[in-house]
Amino acid sequence: MAMLTRRHFLATGTLAVISAPALVRAQARWRANPFSLGIASGDPAPDGFVIWTRLAPEPLDAHGGMPAEPMPAAWEVAADEGFTKIVARGTTVALPELAHSIHVEVAGLQPDRPYFYRFEAGGERSGAGHARTLPLGTAAEPRLRFGVAGCQDYQAGYYTAHRHLADEELAFVFHYGDYIYEYGPDNPAVRQHASPLISSLDDYRRRYAQYKSDPDLQAAHAAHAFFMTFDDHEIRNDWAGDFDDDDQAPPEVFRLRRQSAFQAWYEHMPVRRSQFPGGPAIQLYRGARYGNLARFDFLDTRQFRTNQPCGDGYKTACPEVSSPKAQMINAQEEAWLARNLRRRDARWNVVAQQVMMMSIDRRERLDAPPGKLLNLDSWAGYEAQRQRLMARMRGLDNVVVLTGDEHSNYAGLLHDRDRPVAVEFVSTSISSDGDGQDMPVFGAAFLANNPQLKFVNNQRGYIACDVTPGEWRANFMVVDRVSTPNGRLSKRATWAMAHGEPALRSV
Ligand SMILES: [Fe+2]
Repeated sequence: MAMLTRRHFLATGTLAVISAPALVRAQARWRANPFSLGIASGDPAPDGFVIWTRLAPEPLDAHGGMPAEPMPAAWEVAADEGFTKIVARGTTVALPELAHSIHVEVAGLQPDRPYFYRFEAGGERSGAGHARTLPLGTAAEPRLRFGVAGCQDYQAGYYTAHRHLADEELAFVFHYGDYIYEYGPDNPAVRQHASPLISSLDDYRRRYAQYKSDPDLQAAHAAHAFFMTFDDHEIRNDWAGDFDDDDQAPPEVFRLRRQSAFQAWYEHMPVRRSQFPGGPAIQLYRGARYGNLARFDFLDTRQFRTNQPCGDGYKTACPEVSSPKAQMINAQEEAWLARNLRRRDARWNVVAQQVMMMSIDRRERLDAPPGKLLNLDSWAGYEAQRQRLMARMRGLDNVVVLTGDEHSNYAGLLHDRDRPVAVEFVSTSISSDGDGQDMPVFGAAFLANNPQLKFVNNQRGYIACDVTPGEWRANFMVVDRVSTPNGRLSKRATWAMAHGEPALRSV
C-alpha cells in the first residue's frame, strides 16, 4: 500500500494540500486510531509550550503497530477551541528511532493565554488539547492555581484522580514521577501489567503505551500542560546514580537499562529538546517562572545520587547518613539551586522535587522501641547536603517544597537547626497503594514523634495549590476509592503558609 510521504506536504504544510486519492490511501492504511495514546503538552513558557503525541495504532504491539519507517504528520495551534483562529501550524516527521513520537516546541505565542492544539497523520486527526502559556517573567501576577500529581501504579487502581484533575482550572501540573512502575504483573491487581519486569527499550515503550492508553490519564494531559520529572520507578525501584539496589547489576550494565529507560521516558513525555537523552544521561533539572509570583526549580534527585546509606530501607542512622560526601543532587545542581534561591526576583521560591525533605521518625507504633527510624531513600539519608540546603533557605521565608514518593499526604515544616525555614507539602499518589484510608495505622505515631508534621492522610488524589502574593494554600484533594472506577472527589484539607512566615495554618 502506498505510504503517505513527506512530498505530499507543502513547506507550510497542512493536510489540505494532499491530493484526494493520496488522502484516501492514507486513511485506508490505519487499522486503528493512530492517536491511541492521546496527546499532551508540557514545559509551558511565556511564548509557547511543547506539544506531544506518539503514533501507535496497536499500542502493545511491536513498534506500536507502526511500520519501521518515517511517517509525516501535521500539527496546528489555535486561539479558540473550534480551531477557527489558527495561530501556528507546521509539519513534522515521526521517526521509528523515537517510537514514532512527536515533540513540537511551539513558539511565538502570546503570554498568559489559553491555546488549543491537535495533530493529523495519514488522514486521521487527533483529539484537541488545551495548554496555557505562562505570563511574562516581569508580569505582576495576582494569583496562580496549579496541580501537583504523580505515583500512578496502573495495577493499584483507576486513574480517577486524573479525571478530576482534568476538570480543574489550572495553569499547569507538576508531575513528581513514578509515571510508570517497572514490575511484572501483580496478582491480584485492580488491572494487570501486560508484561513481566521490564528492562529493554521495547519493554519500557510497551509499558508507557499501556499506561497511556488510560482515558483518565489522557484527559488530564489534554486539559493541562505538565512539567514532567521522574523518580525511581521510571527506571528501577530505589535506583541511585549508577546503582541498582534491587538487581545488583554492575554500574556499566545498569547504565544500559538507564539509557533505555531515559529514551522511552523522553519518547513519551511532552518535554523539550533540552531533555533529549545523551546515552545514559539526561538534563532533568530545570526551572520556570510564573511572572513575579513564583520561581519553580524542578529537581533531579536520582541521577546524581550517591548510593543510599546503611544499605537503604527504613533504619536507624549509621555514620554514612551524615557523610559530607553523600549527595542527593550533585555539586552543579546544588549550585544552580542555591543561585536561584538567592535571586529574590519572585515572591515565592518553589522547590518541586520527588522525595521527602523533612527528616521524620518513621516508627509506626507509639510503643515501638526507642531510636529514630529514617527513610534512607529520602533526604533524611543525605543529612549533610540536606542541612546545607536548609541553611540556604534560612531567612528567605518564601520557600515551598513540593514532594511525591510517599503515597501519603503530608504537610510539615522544614527546619534549619531549631528554626522553621520552609514548608513542605507532600502529595499522595494518583493510584499507588490502592484505596488507602484517611488516618493510616502509622498516623498517630508519626504525628506524636514528629512535631514538625502537621497533617497526615493516606488516600489517593492530588494537590491543587492556590498562590497569591500574600499566601500559599495547598488543597489536598482526595478520592474515596480507586479500586473501582468513578470514585468521588473531596477536599480533605487546606493548609496555608503566609508569605514571610514559614508556619502552617489549617484553613
Ligand atoms: Fe511511587
